[in-house]
Amino acid sequence: MTSWTPSDMPDLTGRTAVVTGANSGIGLPTALELARRGAHVVMAARSRERGEAAVASVVRAVPGAKVEYGRLDLADLASVRAFAATVDTVDLLINNAGVSMPPRGLTKDGFELQFGTNHLGHFALTGLLLPRLLARPGARVVTVSSNAQVAGRIDFDDLTLERGYGRLSAYARSKLANLLFTLELQRRARRAGADLLSVATHPGMTSTEIIKIPVAGPLFRLLTKPAAAGARTSLYAATSPDIRGGEFVGPRLRPMKPSPAARSEELAARLWEVSAELTDVRFDALPGH
Ligand SMILES: NC(=O)c1ccc[n+]([C@@H]2O[C@H](COP(=O)([O-])OP(=O)(O)OC[C@H]3O[C@@H](n4cnc5c(N)ncnc54)[C@H](OP(=O)(O)O)[C@@H]3O)[C@@H](O)[C@H]2O)c1
Repeated sequence: MTSWTPSDMPDLTGRTAVVTGANSGIGLPTALELARRGAHVVMAARSRERGEAAVASVVRAVPGAKVEYGRLDLADLASVRAFAATVDTVDLLINNAGVSMPPRGLTKDGFELQFGTNHLGHFALTGLLLPRLLARPGARVVTVSSNAQVAGRIDFDDLTLERGYGRLSAYARSKLANLLFTLELQRRARRAGADLLSVATHPGMTSTEIIKIPVAGPLFRLLTKPAAAGARTSLYAATSPDIRGGEFVGPRLRPMKPSPAARSEELAARLWEVSAELTDVRFDALPGH
């Protein structure tokens, strides 16, 4: 359905969305378009200054928009817990924030930075918000993965990558984890009979802060699209009635086939157990069996 645009979204009045990494890149137009359709949007960002500036930009573009800033640092579980405690209602959770290919680093809790931020931070956030998501009919969790997931490998004996760190392979691992998490969340929701859709996306090459190509010339512009176009995949996944739980929605708004590793239920179950252990966040309402 390539002609779909955000103006095709249903009226979202009365719905609350939480968008992580809402201050820039794909997250900002995602928040903007949800607000334009009437949703109350919590724009989560780690920097108060950047977050509040983003909220102000949405209000300028959509006078009367119901948007607020929420402080969330996904690389710090205490911050994830503090943020989750401020969210009373949530219908749409957009796990969008991400770090891409930084030099090796650790989160506040000692996790490898990309795995810790992109996967564990969102795992914890989703688990902490789960009771509020399940209280809302038609709730959705959209997790922004990437086709980089095809190159992802998970070695549970070296989650901190002390034996060898590659920026791209660590990114790919975090995006594979996003996809495994999405599919396992959907399996658990289905088993529990919960009214919850879990969907992953690949926005396609989008010109944002994350792609720091030194020569941003014509070739770069040819290969990438603006952030608003990248946001279209998240918006479609979050609101289209045609979405089925467990889909991996690509830039053309069609389901993409996850890699064999991403489809492994065994790997997903193991990642889930390890993630619950590391974050101490349990999805009690959605047991594994
Ligand atoms: N751009 C692409 O081509 C592409 C392709 C495939 C997938 N993706 C995925 O799309 C998502 C959005 O990326 P983007 O392209 O829009 O990049 P971006 O412009 O760099 O945006 C990333 C966002 O994540 C936030 N973030 C980073 N670390 C955080 C933390 N510890 N806590 C909270 N927020 C944090 C950033 O906040 P700060 O401003 O504070 O750094 C920023 O708001 C990511 O998950 C990425 O993997 C992007």
